[in-house]
Amino acid sequence: MTPVSRRIVLILFLISLTICASHESDSININKPLSGDQKITSKGGNFVLGFFTKDNSSRRFYIGIWYKRVSELTPVWVANRATPVSDPTKSLLHISHEGNLVLQDQLAKSLIWSTNATISSYSTVAVLQDNGNLVLRDGENSSNVFWQSFENPTHTWLSGGKLAFNKRTGVSQRLTSWKNPENPAPGLFSLEIGQNGQYISQWNMSKSYWTTGPWDGRTFSQVPVMAEHFMFDYTYVNNSEEIYFSFSVIDNATIARLIMDVSGQMKFLKWVEAVRVWTQFWCGPEAQCQVTAFCGPFGSCNEQRLRHKCTCVKGFSQRSLKDWDLSDYSGGCTRITPLQCGGNTSAYVEEDKFLLISSVRLPTDAQQFQAGNVDECEQACLNNCSCTAYSYGTTCSLWYGGLLNLQDQYDGADGGTLYLRLAASELPRHHNNRRVPGIIAGGVAASFVGALVVWVLVTTWRRRERSWVLEKGALVVFRYNDLQRVTHNFSDKLGAGSFGSVFKGVLPDSTIVAVKKLQGIRQGEKQFRAEVSTLGTIQHVNLVSLRGFCAEGTERLLVFDYMPNGSLDSHLFHSNAKVLDWSTRYRIALGIARGLAYLHEKCRECIIHCDIKPENILLDAAFNPIVTDFGLAKLLGREFSHVLTSLRGTIGYISPEWISGLAITPKADVYSFGMMLLEIISGKRNTKQIKCWVDYFPLKAAIQVREGMVDCLLDGRLQGDANMDELNIACKVACWCIQDMEIERPTMGMVVLMLEGLMEVSIPPISAFLQGLVHPGEQNVASSD
Ligand SMILES: *[C@@H]1O[C@H](CO)[C@@H](O)[C@H](O)[C@H]1NC(C)=O
Ligand SMILES: *[C@@H]1O[C@H](CO)[C@@H](O)[C@H](O)[C@H]1NC(C)=O
Ligand SMILES: *[C@@H]1O[C@H](CO)[C@@H](O)[C@H](O)[C@H]1NC(C)=O
Ligand SMILES: *[C@@H]1O[C@H](CO)[C@@H](O)[C@H](O)[C@H]1NC(C)=O
Ligand SMILES: *[C@@H]1O[C@H](CO)[C@@H](O)[C@H](O)[C@H]1NC(C)=O
Ligand SMILES: *[C@@H]1O[C@H](CO)[C@@H](O)[C@H](O)[C@H]1NC(C)=O
Ligand SMILES: *[C@@H]1O[C@H](CO)[C@@H](O)[C@H](O)[C@H]1NC(C)=O
Ligand SMILES: *[C@@H]1O[C@H](CO)[C@@H](O)[C@H](O)[C@H]1NC(C)=O
Repeated sequence: MTPVSRRIVLILFLISLTICASHESDSININKPLSGDQKITSKGGNFVLGFFTKDNSSRRFYIGIWYKRVSELTPVWVANRATPVSDPTKSLLHISHEGNLVLQDQLAKSLIWSTNATISSYSTVAVLQDNGNLVLRDGENSSNVFWQSFENPTHTWLSGGKLAFNKRTGVSQRLTSWKNPENPAPGLFSLEIGQNGQYISQWNMSKSYWTTGPWDGRTFSQVPVMAEHFMFDYTYVNNSEEIYFSFSVIDNATIARLIMDVSGQMKFLKWVEAVRVWTQFWCGPEAQCQVTAFCGPFGSCNEQRLRHKCTCVKGFSQRSLKDWDLSDYSGGCTRITPLQCGGNTSAYVEEDKFLLISSVRLPTDAQQFQAGNVDECEQACLNNCSCTAYSYGTTCSLWYGGLLNLQDQYDGADGGTLYLRLAASELPRHHNNRRVPGIIAGGVAASFVGALVVWVLVTTWRRRERSWVLEKGALVVFRYNDLQRVTHNFSDKLGAGSFGSVFKGVLPDSTIVAVKKLQGIRQGEKQFRAEVSTLGTIQHVNLVSLRGFCAEGTERLLVFDYMPNGSLDSHLFHSNAKVLDWSTRYRIALGIARGLAYLHEKCRECIIHCDIKPENILLDAAFNPIVTDFGLAKLLGREFSHVLTSLRGTIGYISPEWISGLAITPKADVYSFGMMLLEIISGKRNTKQIKCWVDYFPLKAAIQVREGMVDCLLDGRLQGDANMDELNIACKVACWCIQDMEIERPTMGMVVLMLEGLMEVSIPPISAFLQGLVHPGEQNVASSD
């Protein structure tokens, strides 16, 4: 080979190299289309463009831009968000003849998406910039830009981007939420800037539910926290052409984005590589329930609920369970039993009735009716088959069609009592009155209350004098009358738990006892006795001793030893209680673990407690923990989980598999124990005021444990006075216990060994649930980098 030909070969080789490497480039031009798993990467390696899917099972693929340095696939822009392709290898993203960037289905030759810009150039090129902006521009003259993704955003607002109001055209750029976390199709929530220069969030592009307020030169008036964040530079522009706001991250190593979330909230999220989590350090509105129609028609919102803030009102069920699971509640709920009105005219079907729902935020779009009293108001609603509810305060309000914006346990000024129209068969049997009291929680609670009413009626009829009876074995079978006497007619109430109230009583031999009146038990007397007898055989220093029981008619009572120091919650959370020192807390945690391990592993039949929470841990005179209320799950059967999941205050302890309706194993108790252990450490409820600004403690703990900085998790009232080794172990154990996957949680027996220091505890991972829950600790996360 001559030197010249050798040089030609070399050049050819180099050319072929550039062609092969073409998809490592940052641009698409007429000769370099993109298909299949090809990608382009921005020059500095920050962003990638290509086909992606967030749901591998669906075969719905999208052209999108995502972060190269973020291990969790996080699209920041999507081209064909409403028109996915099923096979990327048969789809082509390329520059069309007229110069637009287009996505085409190669088989059908159909156009799926286009930049649809007016092009005045012979050659165009699409370049992915390092700030995440995809720019379609003149191939020769880079300042000649025809289209850019920053001006056509989807749901993400990136550093350097802007969201403008164009004064000439009167058009606002807009962020629109995804339909759900797996589907980028436009959802119902959007953000745009109005003519007045304020950003507003809207539902269905019509109803506004949040605004930033006006720009005051430094911050938006409703977002004062902007002044506290020093990682950004802000720009606000108002010139003859447009009005816009823009932010940029000062330290370019920070990965942050602002999104219109599927929740309808604007969220500022920051990637924390150490823990591989997007953490939120701001959101607006702060309260989920403030988002218009978040729970859809006949859905009811409640901030206290952790995972699903929405439930259906009584008599309704989720329109689409699948959407619901994906946190898309917009479809709301549908009626279970059709109304009699306008439908079933059979003589056997009763007229529709109304369910009283108190302390509820009244739905929007009421129609006023002139009524002299509540009965006229009710009749007005009954007279029109499309009337679904009424309310009578000073005036009569009627609602037609789907009820939007309900919120339960609500005490705001726009709250009140709502009468919801239901088919008569949906309501508990009742005399005389058409309006029946009820609770709004998932339907079950209401029937529970109904049963309770019946139960109270029945029991007041049954008053028979009998004397004490001793059954064989240690358990005493009490007569209802005697318990009534012992407790001074149930006058000294010690507390009210999930399944009934507890009263103090004094037996004839002066022993003080706690008498628990159970509610909602449907079990027959014989079965109840059998169950209770097995409970009577359980003996452990950390488990409450059952002294006896009563089963008469529908009455079911249990009699326990009385614990003078009350329950753990009163010592942990009440400001007027003496602060429990660390060694007592550790001893309490260990004692509870031993008690549960015994229930799970040492009893003849494994007993799952199912309701571990501080209220169910009693403290004896020496502050030893005594687990109570075990065995109730079995006694109550199916009712139990219904009651539990509808109760406020219990939800924070319930494991994910339970919430999703899977079979319950002892690992459900392990989860609840972990949640409670975190509360023992912090001295605060995990679920206390979970709003955007407030740390969700389990997530904070999971992050701090991984970073080896657990001292800040300790209850501030202890002022750091704790055995750091024990604190470290306790935090790690708690984080292992609250893993999503049952298999990753330790058994209670292992927990005992770990707390005793006899078993090594490794660093727990952050569970997917916590990662997904964006309720993190801003300060801690922000200071960790
Ligand atoms: C989809 O599958 C790919 C490769 O099989 C995997 O890397 C990715 O994490 C999966 N994505 C989802 C959302 O499951
Ligand atoms: C392209 O834009 C024109 C107006 O600018 C519009 O009428 C047309 O529907 C758009 N086409 C597509 C495919 O978006
Ligand atoms: C490039 O385009 C800009 C804007 O269209 C124009 O002002 C400039 O003169 C062009 N430059 C060249 C070298 O053609
Ligand atoms: C923008 O500027 C114009 C003209 O100076 C002024 O009239 C208008 O009030 C400004 N708008 C905002 C939102 O600041
Ligand atoms: C959104 O508004 C359109 C009309 O503007 C209406 O047809 C549609 O039903 C609304 N969507 C919902 C979910 O209410
Ligand atoms: C950040 O900026 C510095 C200097 O401007 C540059 O060297 C570095 O590559 C940038 N890092 C990233 C991640 O963009
Ligand atoms: C009406 O109700 C009766 C009794 O519940 C039922 O048997 C019948 O099928 C219903 N008819 C219609 C049209 O819903
Ligand atoms: C029921 O009320 C709706 C809404 O006010 C009204 O449009 C409709 O005509 C009424 N129907 C009857 C039968 O009165």
